[in-house]
Amino acid sequence: MLLLLLGAALVRPGSGPFPAAQLTAPNLLHAGSQLQVFVEPSSRVRLGSRALLLCRFAVGGPVALGSLQVAWYSQEKCVVQYDQGTREAQPHASLPKDEQLCQGNGSLSLSSVRVADEGSYRCKVGHEAEEQLGKPTTLRVLGEDHEQPHRALARD
Ligand SMILES: *[C@@H]1O[C@H](CO)[C@@H](O)[C@H](O)[C@H]1NC(C)=O
Repeated sequence: MLLLLLGAALVRPGSGPFPAAQLTAPNLLHAGSQLQVFVEPSSRVRLGSRALLLCRFAVGGPVALGSLQVAWYSQEKCVVQYDQGTREAQPHASLPKDEQLCQGNGSLSLSSVRVADEGSYRCKVGHEAEEQLGKPTTLRVLGEDHEQPHRALARD
């Protein structure tokens, strides 16, 4: 609910000339958009455990699964995708169940995280005629090779 309010507050009709318009062209295309996508800038997860990369979206009303698309990309590659009821995913990746998607939960779940999963991810949401790309979010994998303090503690 808070996110919905925040989303509403962020949508302001354009007012007057705006010199930086060229820089923000992709956003201006959606100036009247109800669709908002929120991600967390980064997550840290221990090697071998489950990662949840948050992506919340609000469509300004009820979510219609039949016209919903949610996809996560990493290095230009699609990791997981929900496209109007059809799901495709890399082996250890998944999106929330339909009930969760309906509530605006488009978070990416990675089971048993590997070092190779580290990097930048982007969540993209489409609903009816609208589409929004979330800001990049970074996944850091903490392991024996990555997290010196933990290894020092474990040695005792
Ligand atoms: C979103 O979905 C994931 C995966 O099903 C779940 O673990 C998480 O708790 C959900 N988040 C919220 C806020 O409901």
